[in-house]
Amino acid sequence: MRYALLALGLAARNSFACQRDWAGLHKRIHKHQGRSHTKRHFVEFPPSLTETESILVNSFDSKSIDSWSYYYTHGDHLGGHNYSMAEWTMDHWNDAGFNATIQEFWIWYTALIETALKLNRPDGSIHEVSLIEDMLAEDPTTSYPNRIPAYHAMSASGNVSAEYVYVGRGTQADFQVLKDAGIELEGKIALSMYGGIYRGTKVKNAQDNGMAACVLFTDPLDDGEITEVNGYLPYPDGPARNPSMIQRGSVRFASLYSGDPSTVGYASEKEGPRNDVAPYNPSIPSVPISMKDAVPILQALDGSGVSAEAANRSDWHGAFQNVSYSSGPTPGATLDMNHLMNETIAPVWDVIGVINGTHPEEGVLVVGNHRDAWVIGGAADPNSGSAILIELARAFGKLVEKGWKPRRTIILGSWDAEEFGLQGSTEWVETHLPWLITNAIAYLNIDVAVSGPRTALSGSGEIQTIAIEMMKKVIFPDTWGTGPTLYDMWYNTTEGEIAPLGSGSDYAAFYHNGISAIDIGSDGGKTDPVYHYHGHYDSYAWMEKFGDPGFQVHTAMGQWLTLIAYHIADDVLIPWDVPNAGKVLRVHYEDLSDTLAEGYPDLTLDLSPISDAITAFDEAAERITSTASLALASNDAVLIEVVNSKYRGFSRGFASVGGLPGRPTFKNVVSAPGLDNGYGADVFPAVQDSLSAGESEEALAWVEKSAAAILRAAEILKI
Ligand SMILES: *[C@@H]1O[C@H](CO)[C@@H](O)[C@H](O)[C@H]1NC(C)=O
Ligand SMILES: *[C@@H]1O[C@H](CO)[C@@H](O)[C@H](O)[C@H]1NC(C)=O
Ligand SMILES: *[C@@H]1O[C@H](CO)[C@@H](O)[C@H](O)[C@H]1NC(C)=O
Ligand SMILES: *[C@@H]1O[C@H](CO)[C@@H](O)[C@H](O)[C@H]1NC(C)=O
Ligand SMILES: *[C@@H]1O[C@H](CO)[C@@H](O)[C@H](O)[C@H]1NC(C)=O
Ligand SMILES: *[C@@H]1O[C@H](CO)[C@@H](O)[C@H](O)[C@H]1NC(C)=O
Ligand SMILES: *[C@@H]1O[C@H](CO)[C@@H](O)[C@H](O)[C@H]1NC(C)=O
Ligand SMILES: *[C@@H]1O[C@H](CO)[C@@H](O)[C@H](O)[C@H]1NC(C)=O
Ligand SMILES: [Zn+2]
Repeated sequence: MRYALLALGLAARNSFACQRDWAGLHKRIHKHQGRSHTKRHFVEFPPSLTETESILVNSFDSKSIDSWSYYYTHGDHLGGHNYSMAEWTMDHWNDAGFNATIQEFWIWYTALIETALKLNRPDGSIHEVSLIEDMLAEDPTTSYPNRIPAYHAMSASGNVSAEYVYVGRGTQADFQVLKDAGIELEGKIALSMYGGIYRGTKVKNAQDNGMAACVLFTDPLDDGEITEVNGYLPYPDGPARNPSMIQRGSVRFASLYSGDPSTVGYASEKEGPRNDVAPYNPSIPSVPISMKDAVPILQALDGSGVSAEAANRSDWHGAFQNVSYSSGPTPGATLDMNHLMNETIAPVWDVIGVINGTHPEEGVLVVGNHRDAWVIGGAADPNSGSAILIELARAFGKLVEKGWKPRRTIILGSWDAEEFGLQGSTEWVETHLPWLITNAIAYLNIDVAVSGPRTALSGSGEIQTIAIEMMKKVIFPDTWGTGPTLYDMWYNTTEGEIAPLGSGSDYAAFYHNGISAIDIGSDGGKTDPVYHYHGHYDSYAWMEKFGDPGFQVHTAMGQWLTLIAYHIADDVLIPWDVPNAGKVLRVHYEDLSDTLAEGYPDLTLDLSPISDAITAFDEAAERITSTASLALASNDAVLIEVVNSKYRGFSRGFASVGGLPGRPTFKNVVSAPGLDNGYGADVFPAVQDSLSAGESEEALAWVEKSAAAILRAAEILKI
């Protein structure tokens, strides 16, 4: 297979819900070149494992994972659609030795009733758009009778017939180009390319410019090397994107809240109080379309309005060969959108599995993955992670059979309704918040465990070291020539760079309440088979043939997650590297300084309170690390308990009561999704947001508050 042998490189694929911000990571790699905080480590090979680690690692069986994957990818399991899949998950966790139950939440969302889109050309001819993918004989679940048409969760209803305008990626700067050129936007339909920024932000920008509806299309621009133009056959015959594939997804205003938009900041109950959802979701309708249907719609604009050359915006000109990417409108070229959504409050089901620890006072580790998928398949998103959690439960079950119990409680979460907006995880966290604030040690998230071979890790500084150490104990399939261990693949992919968390998956509610969290998984680079994100071809058939033949990458990811979880739950000392948390804060601080120097050259904002707070944090981190060594060496049970309680608690300091400006449930002062572009995570977001809103007084106040948050964390660490 030729694509497996090409040189490595990652495509600038877009971020958010279930997708990682690889473009943002690459910017960080470039920026930190020369002062990267993680140099390549020497890796012992073959790795040496303790007896318990061996039991866990050897328990993983790629054939079993294959069969769990097969189960999860052969039935409708959109959020709230599949109770029996929740039961199946519960039964398998129970069989493995976890005590599992189903927890129900009633959430508000919009469900599709009907949707249709049609192009009317000036010459009177018509093109009907297909809002569902082609059925393929080679991919059985694409012809299931209850397969789900393409739509946007949380989109508004509307019947709109209007001329339309191509708006590039749909960023504020793209809209500015059109306004500067005098293109009338009011009442027209926006046609935007997917990618670059989060889809909901494109819809919001269209709405803010007075437009009546929004159509989002997939363009081969984001497919790296693997395109038909480069000679690759489309799926199912080859690794390129199938032209009929459509990217579904939520268009909620994701940088403002997580979870149920009718209960922002508190748990959803069937008959409980609900707030107005209007501020949180678009008021105009939007639909996604395929490459195949985008071409004629773009072609009808050729030669009208602003040309791609005149627009002079990066990524404005996509990769279709026979389209000029003119803005239009073309007089008489119109779209008819008929889009009807049903506002509903309906149940969704989380599965929660528990093994109580022998030291309940030392708290709980939560490991989670969402179960709901946009399509019948969902082989990558999210059920590569779901299949792994079954195997992880069975691996721990092997130890439980021998009478083992972890020192600290382990909770597994199988979340429902992540795709609509992280509802299952957020409502569970909100239901148990006071208990979690006291007891949670960390949250480990695995969403898209495998959509390709390139390893991803993001999240809290104190967890990074144990996560990296465990990579070195996992053997990686040698198909890609990166080296024998998962560590080699990860280092090859990231050069040791680790991004902070935004809100792209179920870690958000944990992280923004000050609970340490990481997100792990693996994706394709620009020379790997194209993964059909949120489309029907994210299926078992694709995974088996292109994504991970033999389920070897699944096995490696599962072994890695299991080893991390085992050490956090069972080591005498929680395996935190708190000095690394300080280093990470310092890198974020330098990034903040650089961003402000570039973006606001005339600004004099004194950031030294943050720098001083990090220095105080570093001192506390060094001191507790020495105390921890001492406690371990002397086996002093009281001191061990003191250190563990500080390790568990210090990250709560990063959560600011009342939240970040304009978004009260995003509380972590260290990182949050970018407000305007939804593009991965911003560091010290409240400072940046205040400045971009022109509020320099508020920015100054947030420098103080961010510093105070770091000092709170340092104070908790103090012995
Ligand atoms: C739920 O998912 C399972 C497994 O994929 C499938 O067999 C079953 O038919 C689904 N149930 C419904 C109601 O679609
Ligand atoms: C499982 O947990 C439930 C609720 O915490 C409890 O009532 C039940 O006794 C537990 N079952 C076992 C086998 O421990
Ligand atoms: C775990 O412990 C809690 C109390 O700390 C108890 O309520 C629960 O039933 C226990 N669950 C299991 C599975 O033993
Ligand atoms: C849109 O038009 C269809 C008929 O074409 C109608 O059934 C539907 O109620 C209309 N929806 C709205 C929101 O006006
Ligand atoms: C296009 O924009 C770049 C800056 O992004 C500028 O340097 C260049 O001169 C512009 N070209 C034209 C033709 O306006
Ligand atoms: C335009 O190009 C696409 C491939 O990019 C091709 O499938 C399509 O047939 C072409 N259409 C026309 C009208 O040339
Ligand atoms: C809309 O949702 C309500 C409440 O869940 C439900 O009773 C009704 O049947 C739905 N209507 C349609 C047309 O799906
Ligand atoms: C990654 O692996 C490829 C293939 O072995 C190699 O050419 C490349 O230099 C490696 N990159 C890094 C950053 O290690
Ligand atoms: Zn997902």
